[in-house]
Amino acid sequence: MSLAHGSLVYEGKAKRVFRTDHHDEFLVQFKDDVTAFNSKKHEKFETKGSLNCQISALIFKFLEDNGIPTHFIDLRNDCWMLVQKVEVIPIEIVIRNIAYGSLCKETPLEIGSELAHPLMDLYYKDDSLGDPLLTDARLDLLSLVSSSQKKKIRSLALEVNNFLKIFFTGIDLVLVDFKLEMGFNNRGELLVADEISPDTCRIWDAKSENCQDRILDKDRFRKDLGGMIEGYEEVLRRIKKSL
Ligand code: TMP
Ligand code: ASP
Repeated sequence: MSLAHGSLVYEGKAKRVFRTDHHDEFLVQFKDDVTAFNSKKHEKFETKGSLNCQISALIFKFLEDNGIPTHFIDLRNDCWMLVQKVEVIPIEIVIRNIAYGSLCKETPLEIGSELAHPLMDLYYKDDSLGDPLLTDARLDLLSLVSSSQKKKIRSLALEVNNFLKIFFTGIDLVLVDFKLEMGFNNRGELLVADEISPDTCRIWDAKSENCQDRILDKDRFRKDLGGMIEGYEEVLRRIKKSL
């Protein structure tokens, strides 16, 4: 179902953002498109948008209830979310609890090994450059954020990780790693933005021993495992049951 909305502000790979009557509120529509490897792989899965919108809404609400500022205002229907307008910082903030994905391709760390402390990796958000990993020096060079903003980003991202890890553990899910985006609202406050969903998190079923069966996130699509929608449905089912 579509909603009354203003003009399109931005269309990304998985979402469209629209203006509303209110100058500091946007409507976000979650799309059924799924992409991987910088869009080299692209498919549509019916209900994917709605699953991610609902999962994100519940997670944002959970974080808000725990004092974490997010852009989330309200779920408008299964695929549409009302959010605060934010100036998104062009940085993808990745927090890792378990070594997997690019971390294991780029370091000798063994797949699945638990990290002693959560690791924060920052990537420059630019598809034309392939979202490259940023060093501290390059972050300074590009003046993307000040050092005090970087500290705030780091502490907010780690707080999100702490709350989500505990929440997920309670519903037998393992939070392997995830990507956050953040931005500043009109009052200059730093908020968690974008989405938090199985598109942007690696989530494993703690009850499964099998290293393929346990995957409930977009890796099912990246690795051609099938059952991606069923994985997302299971994540939503467990979150709904616990709240
Ligand atoms: P990576 O291991 O491929 O670097 O991915 C780390 C986490 O970030 C993983 O949970 C998936 C998520 N992610 C995105 O949300 N968008 C992206 O474009 C990429 C590359 C990863
Ligand atoms: N979101 C990214 C893309 O399409 C990559 C990924 O999530 O694997 O291109």
